Amino acid sequence: MKHTSPTRSDQRPDQRPDQQGLVARDLVKSYGPRRADRVPALGGVDLALAPGESVAVMGPSGSGKTTLLHVLSGILAPTSGWVRWQGRELSSMSDRERTRLRRTDFGFVFQSGQLLPELTAVENVALPLLLAGQSRATAWPRAEATLRSLGLGDLSTRRPGALSGGQAQRVAIARALVGSPGVVFADEPTGALDSHTGQQVMSTLTQHCAAQGATLVVVTHDAAVAGWCQRLVHMRDGLIERLEDQSARAGRVAQPAPSVQPAHAAQPAEAIVR
Ligand SMILES: Nc1ncnc2c1ncn2[C@@H]1O[C@H](COP(=O)(O)OP(=O)(O)OP(=O)(O)O)[C@@H](O)[C@H]1O
Ligand SMILES: [Mg+2]
Repeated sequence: MKHTSPTRSDQRPDQRPDQQGLVARDLVKSYGPRRADRVPALGGVDLALAPGESVAVMGPSGSGKTTLLHVLSGILAPTSGWVRWQGRELSSMSDRERTRLRRTDFGFVFQSGQLLPELTAVENVALPLLLAGQSRATAWPRAEATLRSLGLGDLSTRRPGALSGGQAQRVAIARALVGSPGVVFADEPTGALDSHTGQQVMSTLTQHCAAQGATLVVVTHDAAVAGWCQRLVHMRDGLIERLEDQSARAGRVAQPAPSVQPAHAAQPAEAIVR
């Protein structure tokens, strides 16, 4: 009988530290077809996001935050440099594979207006599962359960026009989380909300990402929103100016408005739809 001791090469690729999470190296992104009038948006960004961590990206308007999010998530190809997700370089994938990856492994939350107005809340949440090839019989209960886990069970048959801004954002979070993604990308998810509702939305987002073990990347201009995340990435002129670890400052990270639960009081994973 063959005996083998566990070695690095015996480990499954997704268990090796260098194969986990989202890693970007020397990311450069310029917009525009002609070299002469290209707009530089990223000037060489290195970033490694561990599984389950939460990171806020801050910086002045035009500093490259949205561009970074789009390149990290494979929406945009970098001009040079690379992004690896669980050890696989996004640029080595076909367009079809990348599209599939965005549907299965990544979730997205944008500022507002992202729900399809003609669909109900549950139809909006089920949509990514249906697009990823799941049957209606599987997708529907999952979407319903995700809405319930976010406290939105009563709103499942409402259309977005009949939801408040905060409710609509929480439905959008349900839609981002329903497929149990490895990374949730959120671009100014509270940008259209008042500060209290914004805090509630961040509470929901951080708790549920933590419970599912999903990495969270949030672009925001708001320091109170960024305070929910474990790390801060400060951008300026397409570069990371500074990285700040605020996980030790648990007080700040878990210091929401009084009616909002602390970020570290995440629900057990079983409470979230599998
Ligand atoms: N599609 C595009 N075509 C050309 N230039 C673009 C495009 N998108 C962004 N840019 C430019 O790239 C730079 C970075 O833009 P980006 O949208 O990433 O900034 P941002 O930090 O997200 O800004 P904001 O806080 O205003 O959303 C800016 O100079 C912007 O004008
Ligand atoms: Mg932006």
